[in-house]
Amino acid sequence: MNYHILTLFPDMVMDGLNTSIIGRAKEKGLLFIEAVNIRDFTQNKHNRVDDYPYGGGAGMVIQAQPVYDAYQHVEKKIGRKPRVLYMTPQGRQFTQSMAEELAREEDLVFLCGHYEGIDQRVLEEIVTDYVSIGDYVLTGGELPAMVMIDAISRLLEDVLHNEASAEFETFHDNLLEYPQYSRPEIWRDKQVPPVLLSGHHANIEKWRREQSIMLTVDHRPDLIEQAVLSKKERIFLEKYVEEKEKRLQQT
Ligand code: ADE
Repeated sequence: MNYHILTLFPDMVMDGLNTSIIGRAKEKGLLFIEAVNIRDFTQNKHNRVDDYPYGGGAGMVIQAQPVYDAYQHVEKKIGRKPRVLYMTPQGRQFTQSMAEELAREEDLVFLCGHYEGIDQRVLEEIVTDYVSIGDYVLTGGELPAMVMIDAISRLLEDVLHNEASAEFETFHDNLLEYPQYSRPEIWRDKQVPPVLLSGHHANIEKWRREQSIMLTVDHRPDLIEQAVLSKKERIFLEKYVEEKEKRLQQT
């Protein structure tokens, strides 16, 4: 996977992405990440990238030309038109399934805005996807790009050491991940659930799936509709929901 980040703050993204698992994957050559500084493509002597908005209003607008030239630099290098993701709170909400879809691309361009935004004309010219990481407004697109690169990269082959860990996790089958325990067996009078000490793999698996179902109902009821469940698990879910409703009516 090759990531090309168009930004005014290359150090911010590269410092963050050179760390931990993503940094190691980069060192191993599993990922290529470059930050392309939009400022390097200005054509004025003060290297200004922004100007006042037509029609007035607060803030500044990043001009079309340096953004377009930075993009063209990437397009020329890779020799074809890549997907260009513009980080904006007005975009489609980034999800795990979007991460899975993007992980299949060979090149991804992230366009990070700052100030009040980017001239609309260059967005129309180059952007293929408008993406938001949530309903809140950040000062720029760099953190969203880093969030997305992290979520996408961990799905790529060999990036995580434990191959199973990307598969059996939160959002697998649209369920939240079951709770985990490690040593000691008793901590502050709290005992590890006995089934986990039993060595009975089928029972452990069943317990974990049921924990995932209950957690999803309790914390993310919006996900449970799409959960991939066996017949027995569906019956378990219906019973759990029924009992929960009864409990709620009693209080
Ligand atoms: N830029 C500013 N806020 C953002 C958000 N929530 N998601 C993506 N890009 C952004």
